[in-house]
Amino acid sequence: MNTTNFQIPSIQDRFIYDLIYNCLALPTLAVAYELGLYDRLAETPLTIEEVATALSLTDRAAEAIVGVSAATGFLHRKSDDDRFALSEQARIYILPESPFSYGESLGYASFVNMGSFALDAIRKAVKHGSRPSDPKAIATQMLDQKEISRLMRLLHAHTLPAGMAIAEHPYFDEIESLLDVGAGSCPITAAVVARRPGIRVTALDVDAVCPQGEEMLRRYGLEDCATLLAGDMFAGLPTGFGAHLYSNIFHDWDVESCRRLAKISFDALEPGGRILL
Ligand SMILES: C[S@@+](CC[C@H](N)C(=O)[O-])C[C@H]1O[C@@H](n2cnc3c(N)ncnc32)[C@H](O)[C@@H]1O
Repeated sequence: MNTTNFQIPSIQDRFIYDLIYNCLALPTLAVAYELGLYDRLAETPLTIEEVATALSLTDRAAEAIVGVSAATGFLHRKSDDDRFALSEQARIYILPESPFSYGESLGYASFVNMGSFALDAIRKAVKHGSRPSDPKAIATQMLDQKEISRLMRLLHAHTLPAGMAIAEHPYFDEIESLLDVGAGSCPITAAVVARRPGIRVTALDVDAVCPQGEEMLRRYGLEDCATLLAGDMFAGLPTGFGAHLYSNIFHDWDVESCRRLAKISFDALEPGGRILL
């Protein structure tokens, strides 16, 4: 591929994100209903932390059910603070006392359309802490090459358009070296070296995944523009970089692991270096 064609796409990829992720909205709303989110918010608007306390959830689980409920129009954020309130849509179509309520039926509608898999996976993820229920991305070392290749192709398509925009950020005017941590098939590395040839970029991932990065960089003719490094990010990071970029990494891990990674980065970065999330 000619890297002069490596431009920010002229159409945003939201439509395809919606296509892929909208199917998770219904089971998420069903689980939120089961947990009593909408009844609580009918009493009074709450912040995400208050929802977590009221429903005995982690902050991350509360953020997920509130975020999906807001994105689908059932909640709105109050303009004067960070509290979320029920929308009219939720009062009419979700609350059990409404004659038009679907609330009780959300779980059944999800089951009828998608079987129990999505519902069970989301229930498990929301109720049992902050670890992902299907942790493929945090256990790539355990996957076979065919599965790694399929996962990385999806992640590459998912990340490259955003990577192209990220590489244009003025922040990259200020840095000379970047470590792409958990680089996968190198969408961010490819975007940065293509758009910012002056920046020295190293992409780090577990050894089972590095061939995916090599293949993608070769496909773009960028194989000589970045260094690939096999390693375990939890075992320490190489020194000598002005910035560490974690693309689609922190949301995969529990909070304690994210703290460990931040500390590992802090110890390895040059003075004044930055962690980019
Ligand atoms: C969700 S993917 C993100 C890939 C890429 N950064 C992107 O945005 O498309 C998570 C990546 O973290 C990598 N990873 C998981 N555990 C790791 C570890 N201990 N050390 C280095 N990389 C790891 C996985 O192999 C995978 O490529």
